[in-house]
Amino acid sequence: MNCAVILLLTSSCFTWSAAIYVPHRGAPKNLKYLLEPPVYAEVVGRRGDNVTLPCILRTKPSHYKVKWTKLEPQHIGPENIILISNSHSYKIYGHLGQRASLRKAHTMDVSLQLSQLQLEDGGAYRCELINGIEDENVIINLRIEGVVFPYQSKNGRYKFTYHEAKEACAKQDAKLATYSELYRAWTEGLDWCNAGWLHDGTVNYPIIRPRPVCGGELLPGIRSYGQKDKNYDRFDAFCFTSQTPGSVFYISESFSYDQASHACKRQGAELALVGQLYAAWRFKDYDQCDGGWLRDGSVRFPISNPREHCGGIPEPGVRSFGFPNKTAHLFGAYCYR
Ligand SMILES: *[C@@H]1O[C@H](CO)[C@@H](O)[C@H](O)[C@H]1NC(C)=O
Ligand SMILES: *[C@@H]1O[C@H](CO)[C@@H](O)[C@H](O)[C@H]1NC(C)=O
Repeated sequence: MNCAVILLLTSSCFTWSAAIYVPHRGAPKNLKYLLEPPVYAEVVGRRGDNVTLPCILRTKPSHYKVKWTKLEPQHIGPENIILISNSHSYKIYGHLGQRASLRKAHTMDVSLQLSQLQLEDGGAYRCELINGIEDENVIINLRIEGVVFPYQSKNGRYKFTYHEAKEACAKQDAKLATYSELYRAWTEGLDWCNAGWLHDGTVNYPIIRPRPVCGGELLPGIRSYGQKDKNYDRFDAFCFTSQTPGSVFYISESFSYDQASHACKRQGAELALVGQLYAAWRFKDYDQCDGGWLRDGSVRFPISNPREHCGGIPEPGVRSFGFPNKTAHLFGAYCYR
């Protein structure tokens, strides 16, 4: 690898992401009509949850509209309007509008309710008061609580273009992680020595224990190769998923891949996706010390209570046997229903 490894120090990473997602933090204007965002300018929810993004009027001008928009840091294009309201009624717009409504808990309440959160909903939302003369806005950040996992092609290391990486995550019930999702995963313990695509087209890897084979003895942090060619360069993927409506269970047998698949079907289930196994591990402390087939042909097992004879790694995690020969190797089955 002859790309320069750039170390982003912890503090500069944080400032950088904060600057993107909360552009007005630290330089509040004096607001006349809207209340400052409450103590929590960040709202957190998991996939499937309903959340409320708070926005409260301080004073009602005689004529006004309230406009809710989602800000897309990497996306330069038309405004992503969700909802526009006047003092009597509101109208919804776009795909987010389908799941949006105004809370209207009282006459000054213009908070936005979003139902059935999806993985892509995370990001900055703007509540804007428009009265023709002195427009004002506040910004609320919505964070989807989830888990980041590295994903490699069954053909080996560094096989995905950006577009293939995006598709690979989608096939595992996930999406490409954003930089801030990877950063948070790093703070929570993700240490991974292979570089992967992120949603913004940059390639990075998170290192907690610096070692010579993983970019040298630099400080811990997110190692970044910066922006790479989406059609030409090939890496692994960092995928992001959140809680699932169903659950994962294990069938203990010696199966080939096809036998495992049939065993799940007999239980009214299907072989689990990698994202579903990670979600069970992260949100339900799923712990099973046996390798089992997943639908992509990989064999993995989830460990919440690390112990000597279960992989021997001191940290919790989902361990992988890679993609064994589908006929010659015998494992159990992880099913999802
Ligand atoms: C979320 O909102 C939807 C639609 O408004 C509603 O049907 C559902 O019951 C709500 N779910 C929860 C967990 O409150
Ligand atoms: C898988 O194992 C079977 C039986 O041992 C063997 O015939 C086959 O060639 C193997 N397939 C691959 C792709 O290695």
